[in-house]
Amino acid sequence: MMPIPCLIQREVDVYVAMSRARELATAVGFGAVDRTRIEIVILELTRNLLVHARGGTLTLTRLSDSVRGAGIVIEATDTGPGIADIELALQDGYSTAHTLGAGLPGVRRLMDEFSIESTVGVGTRVRAVKWLTTPQRRAIYGC
Ligand SMILES: Nc1ncnc2c1ncn2[C@@H]1O[C@H](COP(=O)(O)OP(=O)(O)OP(=O)(O)O)[C@@H](O)[C@H]1O
Ligand SMILES: [Mg+2]
Repeated sequence: MMPIPCLIQREVDVYVAMSRARELATAVGFGAVDRTRIEIVILELTRNLLVHARGGTLTLTRLSDSVRGAGIVIEATDTGPGIADIELALQDGYSTAHTLGAGLPGVRRLMDEFSIESTVGVGTRVRAVKWLTTPQRRAIYGC
């Protein structure tokens, strides 16, 4: 499926990305709870782009898998300073910005798949996937 790239350079770009994500999530068939989860993820990842990396790109892509069904992948990429210790950055309460340090661990908990690739001095890529859950799927696969 065609990826939707959203350039995140200013606060207002966050709201455009949120609105794109809401449209896509609705089109995929996500219910209100998962749509809210996806919105929180967009907020946290775009805030990280603005606060820690002087901006970047958020990309939304619709997924269609023969086994897992439909889903959405959210990717945040930047050419910022990178993350030296990813395990540490994923711990609740760890923040170099003296804020809550709840963003990345929260995103990991809210989504079905989560990964970070980062190189100091080069940049960071965060990828998170949410699969659509239907009653039939849940009965067969338990998710
Ligand atoms: N895109 C990024 N580029 C560089 N460092 C990042 C990036 N995203 C996160 N980090 C690092 O990982 C740490 C943890 O991120 P996380 O989002 O969990 O917390 P936070 O942004 O500091 O606080 P909060 O999200 O609760 O306001 C950050 O403090 C920062 O050091
Ligand atoms: Mg954050």
